[in-house]
Amino acid sequence: MNLLFNHNEIIEQIHNTLDVKPNTSIRLKRMVHGVANSVYKFSIGNSENVIKIYHREFDSKLSSNLLNWCSKVGIPVPPLISINDNIAIYRYSQGTHKYVLDNEMIANLSVIINRIHSFPIDEVSGKNLIEKIRVYYDYLINISPKIIPNKVCNKILSHYENITSKKEIHSDGLYVLHGDISPTNVLWVNKKIASVLDFDECSIGPRMYDVAVTACKFSLGCHNTINKNYIDHFFSIFLKCSSHISSKTEINPFIDLYIMKVLLEKFFLIETHQIDCNSKRQKTDPWQKWANYIIEGDV
Ligand SMILES: Nc1ncnc2c1ncn2[C@@H]1O[C@H](COP(=O)(O)OP(=O)(O)OP(=O)(O)O)[C@@H](O)[C@H]1O
Ligand SMILES: [Mg+2]
Repeated sequence: MNLLFNHNEIIEQIHNTLDVKPNTSIRLKRMVHGVANSVYKFSIGNSENVIKIYHREFDSKLSSNLLNWCSKVGIPVPPLISINDNIAIYRYSQGTHKYVLDNEMIANLSVIINRIHSFPIDEVSGKNLIEKIRVYYDYLINISPKIIPNKVCNKILSHYENITSKKEIHSDGLYVLHGDISPTNVLWVNKKIASVLDFDECSIGPRMYDVAVTACKFSLGCHNTINKNYIDHFFSIFLKCSSHISSKTEINPFIDLYIMKVLLEKFFLIETHQIDCNSKRQKTDPWQKWANYIIEGDV
């Protein structure tokens, strides 16, 4: 993959992608420089935009389909200007990230999640979430068994079949999922959602997975560890906003599925050298706590 880190190369890429006149000045400011991608804000004249540069493979097709559909049906997302397998350019959205949500904000987020799940699934093809996770599992168990670093990883692998064989996970039907509704991927203006960002994790799978991801990620925002009380509270508000979901649909198997995905993907990416497990960003990652949750929790 073609990595673009250099300031001038990024400017050149913007010029080429947007067909900007040669002497136009572009002001570029780095926002996030992560292991999987880098994000910069840039201005041309009065227009403010964001360029995201991918450092690893990503499926731009389902992502742009879902994003364009959201914008058509009034779900707040930043307009997409250009996308390919290496870069995506969006209009910049105003708003701030919130790490602690009150009931009104949880309800607003639940409405948006439900609307995303009304995407007509027949209109797209995309990767199935369970199959996506299976690829990481197969790699770790069959292709690279020598790398399993410690007892924790072995236990995680042994829980995999148990989690994915749960009937709730398969009986919920298939929906197009955002896959990563988290504090850093939602912008707010006065308790209202100004923009849902980052459709890189979208896939096709059970809709309760999105609810579980959102509840876990916002619970981490408060405490940096998965908080069961917060998750239950989030879920109870979600149920009030979702007439089609009965409370019989338990959230727990989907939380386990999410944690399993994060853990297996992380091992996979470390083993295939697509991410550096010693990088600064990884050290702040609470994945070890999640591994403990899978092992000691009620899986
Ligand atoms: N269109 C946009 N308008 C405003 N801010 C944006 C936009 N796109 C991205 N950002 C900002 O850049 C940050 C990172 O963007 P994005 O979420 O797409 O990348 P990421 O690498 O997946 O980050 P993370 O892992 O933190 O979710 C966002 O949290 C947000 O603050
Ligand atoms: Mg993001």
